[in-house]
Amino acid sequence: MSMRTLQSEGAGVGPPELSPWFHNLHLPDGSQTAPDHPLGDFPGWKWRELAPHLPGDLSGKRALDIGCNAGFYSFELAKRGAQVLAIDFDERYLKQAAWARGQMGLDDQVELRRMSVYDLAELDEEPFDVVLFLGVFYHLRHPLLALDLVAEKTAGTLVFQTLTSPGDEPLDTPRDLSIHDRERMREPGWPRMAFIENELAGDPTNWWAADAACVEAMLRSTGMCITARPGHEFWVCEPAPEGAPQAEMVRSELDSATRRIAR
Ligand SMILES: C[S@@+](CC[C@H](N)C(=O)[O-])C[C@H]1O[C@@H](n2cnc3c(N)ncnc32)[C@H](O)[C@@H]1O
Repeated sequence: MSMRTLQSEGAGVGPPELSPWFHNLHLPDGSQTAPDHPLGDFPGWKWRELAPHLPGDLSGKRALDIGCNAGFYSFELAKRGAQVLAIDFDERYLKQAAWARGQMGLDDQVELRRMSVYDLAELDEEPFDVVLFLGVFYHLRHPLLALDLVAEKTAGTLVFQTLTSPGDEPLDTPRDLSIHDRERMREPGWPRMAFIENELAGDPTNWWAADAACVEAMLRSTGMCITARPGHEFWVCEPAPEGAPQAEMVRSELDSATRRIAR
């Protein structure tokens, strides 16, 4: 989703310097932060797709919301009782989230931190019960590095959402492929990720558009198994009991890429 083209044009509510808003938050006084959002009541309608796939009672659970923006999803998890760590690398969105958190009376339940997803490599906290990684993946130049870090911080449920490229029929790819058989990679359903050298939807921060087969293959390769697809471009996963297929190799590369000392 392109942040630049999909923000509310209108002023919404709250201090004027906080506008424009990407999240249409419904505040306790009945006002909304982006009532004229080009995607409608966003992300409320996406939450309504996802909500039945998460426990109604998250009391005592810890959640991590990566790329939290103005905090819509963090607030929904907190309303279900979770203690939420909400991270984003953009100070402007964190200011929106901090203001809205106060309006909603959730200061004690939602902690906001300015952090990049790559900083998870050094986050000294146990893996979380619920992790949201929504709308961030395609903005990253190093998506699989980020996904490995996200998987490492997931003890329970990971919810993943990304902009995709067309194609929704995964192929049952072979365990190994002869170097002479590479034509098969052009078959429909072979996992593919399109690189966007310049811009997509006017947004130069859109770098990669994976198709559904590629999303699912990458999730599996980080050691997750897919348990549900609540809607278009939406996946719910949990750690596979057997772990990542090549866990040691993945871990060692991750340690090198993030320059942390192998534990
Ligand atoms: C398209 S918005 C998605 C917001 C929200 N997660 C949702 O699904 O509605 C992308 C968000 O990710 C944040 N973001 C982009 N790259 C990031 C990174 N490397 N680390 C943390 N946040 C990032 C942006 O600042 C923005 O708030």
